[in-house]
Amino acid sequence: MKLIVRKNDEQIADEVSDLVLSLVKKNPSCILGLATGSTPIPTYKDIIRKAKEEKISFKDVRSFNLDEYLNNKDFTQSYRYFMNSNLFDHIDMDKDNTHFPPESDFAHYDDEIEKAGGVDLQILGIGRDGHIGFNEPGTAFDSKTHVAALKETTIKDNSRFFKDISLVPTSAVTMGLGTIMKSKKIILIATGKNKAEAIKATFGKISIDCPASILQNHPDTLIYCDEEAASLLK
Ligand code: F6R
Repeated sequence: MKLIVRKNDEQIADEVSDLVLSLVKKNPSCILGLATGSTPIPTYKDIIRKAKEEKISFKDVRSFNLDEYLNNKDFTQSYRYFMNSNLFDHIDMDKDNTHFPPESDFAHYDDEIEKAGGVDLQILGIGRDGHIGFNEPGTAFDSKTHVAALKETTIKDNSRFFKDISLVPTSAVTMGLGTIMKSKKIILIATGKNKAEAIKATFGKISIDCPASILQNHPDTLIYCDEEAASLLK
């Protein structure tokens, strides 16, 4: 696990988008693992801009998203909607090549990823409690795609996207930690002071109390932090 500290999220987005685009240039049918949330938005913006400028095609790229809400009444709050509006609608991605965890038959998602050849590059954010995907503290390190109940802190954090906290779905289907660990390369991005504790724990003792700490056992993981997120690391 390699730590890379940059001044701000703009610098991180610039570098991570370059890494994604160079993979797409090298392997036009590569498989991307994608995250939602605030953290990857600057990176997605840079991917869109540079793909246009450099005429890089995503038409054969395949993607598997980390998670999707369950029992969500409002499509505009779904992670499918988020990905369409923040990335897929702005590049020539074929929506048939974009995948989200299913509402049932969850383990099938792991099979699908494996059949496609495995995730070449997985982008991750991190929750304040150290979650990756929706793998909250306590999740087994070898877990596959499963239903996860969201912890109170996560529901509170996610409520900023909803009119009312009561509308935030309380469960989601998420790739498991075992699923994520099978990715060939992982880039976790953490920005802002409220991620500093989680990043400190990520580099601490490997423990189910901080799900992201399992990434220490992954052979090719980059942790991109801005100065605030890295502020509690020695
Ligand atoms: C989203 C996801 C979550 C987020 C995390 C951080 O697909 O899997 O683990 O990455 O909750 O969210 P933000 O980036 O909004 O702080």
